[in-house]
Amino acid sequence: MNYNLANMQHRIVGKPLDRVDGRLKVTGEAAYTADVPIDNLVYGVIFTSAIAKGKVIQIDTSAVVIAPGVIDIITYEQTPSLVKIPFFSPQQPQPTEKDDNIYYDGQHLGIVVAQTLEQAQTAASLVKISYEEAPPTVTMAQAEIFEPESILFGIMPGKITRGDVESGKAHADILMEQVYTTPIEHHNPLETSATIAMWEGDNLTLYETTQGISSTQRGICAVLNIPPENVRVISKYLGGGFGCKALLKSHTILAAIAARQVKRPVKVVLMRSQMYTSCGYRSQTQQHLTLGATKDGKLTLITHIGTSLTSPFDDFVEPVGAATTMMYACPNLEVKYRLARINASTPTFMRAPGEAPGMFALESAMDELAYALNIDPIELKLRNHADIDPHTGLPWSSKSLKQCYQQGAEIFGWAQRNPVPRSMRDEHFLIGWGMASATFPSHAGSASVKVEIFANGEVRVQSGTQDIGTGTYTVMTQVAAEALGLSSQSVQFELGDSNLPKAPVTGNSITVGSVSPAVHKAASAARVKMIQMAITDSNSPLYGSQLDDITVESGQIFLKQDSSKRDSYTDILHRHGLQSLEVTEESSPNPDKQYSKHSFGAIFVEVAVDELLGEIKVRRCVGVYSAGRILNLKTARSQVIGGITWGIGMALMEKTVMDANQGRIVNANLSDYLIPVHADIPNMEVQFVEEHDSFVNALGTKSLGELPIVGVAAAISNAVYHATGKRIRDLPITPDKLL
Ligand code: MOS
Repeated sequence: MNYNLANMQHRIVGKPLDRVDGRLKVTGEAAYTADVPIDNLVYGVIFTSAIAKGKVIQIDTSAVVIAPGVIDIITYEQTPSLVKIPFFSPQQPQPTEKDDNIYYDGQHLGIVVAQTLEQAQTAASLVKISYEEAPPTVTMAQAEIFEPESILFGIMPGKITRGDVESGKAHADILMEQVYTTPIEHHNPLETSATIAMWEGDNLTLYETTQGISSTQRGICAVLNIPPENVRVISKYLGGGFGCKALLKSHTILAAIAARQVKRPVKVVLMRSQMYTSCGYRSQTQQHLTLGATKDGKLTLITHIGTSLTSPFDDFVEPVGAATTMMYACPNLEVKYRLARINASTPTFMRAPGEAPGMFALESAMDELAYALNIDPIELKLRNHADIDPHTGLPWSSKSLKQCYQQGAEIFGWAQRNPVPRSMRDEHFLIGWGMASATFPSHAGSASVKVEIFANGEVRVQSGTQDIGTGTYTVMTQVAAEALGLSSQSVQFELGDSNLPKAPVTGNSITVGSVSPAVHKAASAARVKMIQMAITDSNSPLYGSQLDDITVESGQIFLKQDSSKRDSYTDILHRHGLQSLEVTEESSPNPDKQYSKHSFGAIFVEVAVDELLGEIKVRRCVGVYSAGRILNLKTARSQVIGGITWGIGMALMEKTVMDANQGRIVNANLSDYLIPVHADIPNMEVQFVEEHDSFVNALGTKSLGELPIVGVAAAISNAVYHATGKRIRDLPITPDKLL
């Protein structure tokens, strides 16, 4: 593998360092939420509705309360609403009036607490619920469709336009109009969601599987009406999140209420099947996409109308047009959203929400346009390359998409491609080559970091951020060690505790861009403070030296010109009679809106399609990405491999199926919900295009986590078309669709 990042003044940042928590994880020493040992623990099992629409008439608990080991049972009648949980940090209080309505199958109706897990499970199975049943709305076709005025709870308008679509039509030599569809998909982290809730007086501690310790803290405080200082949320390791652990969910509320009621710590671990109805999902999408272009391939218009599903009580839109507005230099555009309410739980963010299904449509359509105009797809993209953000008119803070196309094409051997469908064969396999672009916005939030240098030589760096399995512990250790002039082994980075300095939720690929600048700032400030203590101390060999003439390596502070003149962090602290030096700094994203900030990439795939069976195998993948500075080549590459793997699953396998009569998910398990296994995944060639983006933040990092899933499904669909001559616009591309 060939990494193109050559920023050699960095001694630690950028290096493919092994995960600092790797050993703890592979030896089982890392305590994930459900593993945390707690004294006096009891077990909660959530019971749920068995119908998708109607009303609860009665919950009969008579068999439950006499079952062995049962401590208590709490029903929805004794809790705030377990379905209407406000997104983000709740502005308005959660509804507390009793609501007997059933909105979806699997809706949480209460919790049974018992001495052991088995007793709680048995007792939960004895809850007898009688319903008044009504026929549920299950499909998009059955649902009433409406156009929301704004989407994502007011963050974005429901309709986005630029230029004039009619004039775009008038100037077009060709119009391509198609419908692309994607199914409901689920996150399926290996670790199911879990909570351990314990009260000491009025103080609640939650061990929680969350991507956002502070957002969980804010959320539970709003729901239970308690002040934030009474709640501590701890999440040290996460076995995958992907968006389904980003926001407060009902199991956490039930665990907290149950623990308060039984006055003992309560552990709740969702069953795999419960994950399908308790933690959100990616909505099914139906996308009407129109491209207009001149004969020479210049886009004159794009319209993208996305219809997605939502629950009876929340308006969650899958923002499929997010990338459409900024991807190509097209003067006339309309993006619009429509919602269909069905009897299902509320969808949520799932890895590259919007971009992942949206770019399947846009990048498939661009391939169709390339064929219609007989232009190579890369050439077509270059003719419509957005040199500035076409929607805001702002320059990019950095953009290396052309280099991604070029390097990807070179490694893949794209120039050898005969574009004629069915022109490439390998025995009884039809071979197809396809490609697509990737993009993801680079957002950031404010973060605080505390650095402590101890007289015994230990260094501790802390921030209330999260490591969702992607490598936060490791990259923050690298940034801190480099800024302090220490080796990565001598720095301990701590996260995952809401008592630590605040950091944002780990979602929207913002953690590196938010927290690493704060780590850099606090560690640099601590180093400067130490040097100043030395040069103003008459007992230091460095007394009277200038700050700029001094450097630090391995905790040794010395004159650049004369390394025999040296002092050390530990000696300085000892001489000053200090146990430690402590610095806390906050870093906020640059408020100037002078630039548009996005990461980009290009993905190339080769598929082999068995002509008789319709089976598709991805044989080769080349992904080239530009995401600013890469802090750790190994963890970054691992994220890209994970993203592309997920993209292959999205293209060929993943689909949640709802029973059209019952409104029940029929494949709520990992045997029937297909995800790729090793045998499905080819060798991947991953490269990064080096970027020095001095605008985004002090380290020049951009978003990476969600970028590599984007475009993969389109690249595969385009390759399948090249192989077979069949254009599949409905995911997943299963063999039946090719026969
Ligand atoms: Mo992500 S879908 O922002 O966890």
